[in-house]
Amino acid sequence: MATPQPQQPQTVNEPLTAPETKPAPPKTGSQCKLTARDINFFYGQFQALYGISLDIPANKVTAFIGPSGCGKSTFLRTMNRMNETLRNTRVEGDLKLDGQDLLGMDVTDVRRRVGMVFQKSNPFPKTIFDNVAYGLRVNGIKKSSVVAEAVERSLSHAALWTEVKDKLHKPASALSGGQQQRLCIARALAVEPEVLLLDEPCSALDPIATLKIEELLFQIKDITTIVIVTHNMQQAARLADFTGFFLLGKLIEIDDTKKIFQNPGKKETEDYVTGRFG
Ligand SMILES: Nc1ncnc2c1ncn2[C@@H]1O[C@H](COP(=O)(O)OP(=O)(O)OP(=O)(O)O)[C@@H](O)[C@H]1O
Ligand SMILES: [Mg+2]
Repeated sequence: MATPQPQQPQTVNEPLTAPETKPAPPKTGSQCKLTARDINFFYGQFQALYGISLDIPANKVTAFIGPSGCGKSTFLRTMNRMNETLRNTRVEGDLKLDGQDLLGMDVTDVRRRVGMVFQKSNPFPKTIFDNVAYGLRVNGIKKSSVVAEAVERSLSHAALWTEVKDKLHKPASALSGGQQQRLCIARALAVEPEVLLLDEPCSALDPIATLKIEELLFQIKDITTIVIVTHNMQQAARLADFTGFFLLGKLIEIDDTKKIFQNPGKKETEDYVTGRFG
């Protein structure tokens, strides 16, 4: 009987164009929180995403990397249907949250279950306290002691509590840019989302606040599934269990973070992570 041969590594001598083959979902052994199959996305006539298929494992951190304009934010926004707020856009394909059709769900339910933090902080024109309490109140939690406790917990998680605890009833607009970003993270955390999408959340933060946020993300992955877009390779390497590389609207490869950075399967990924382009 023939002895089975070990699988050959995939060739890396491919042209610098996004391949047509679908990247295999990461083999995680853990349950999938979100699954995407053949997602195409259009801004009017312009197609921004091509056949994205991937699995987002539960209670892990998944990072998306890739050059500017390759569709990372578009894909992230598709996952909580934020793109629907833009006119003349269209999504095709199959997206599931815990096996349920995310694109067909009540959008308010999707946004409650899948929270999002944007690159540019967007506090509401309200006080610090009311920003964080907002989602709880919208979800019918009115008891002041419960709200106050959740506000403190969320602000502490977002590494902001000590800086704001004496001015909770001051306008959020009086905070610095980095503080406003941490406030938005606290606001997203307050409703305890099942999935937290973060689009370059640390780009306006100093290294200390960045590390605090990374620590926080590391801690909360027991209770939340995290998807983060980052241009900071070290951040992806430190934080993410899995990393996906996007190029020209396609997902080139998604795998264990270590593999993506040390031994990627595709030449495009290797060129990007070693700084040869991007
Ligand atoms: N609201 C919009 N209307 C039309 N085209 C858009 C819109 N937003 C993004 N695009 C286009 O879709 C493509 C993907 O953009 P996207 O913002 O998803 O890229 P990205 O990978 O997040 O880039 P960056 O790293 O610069 O944030 C780009 O070509 C962009 O110009
Ligand atoms: Mg973006």
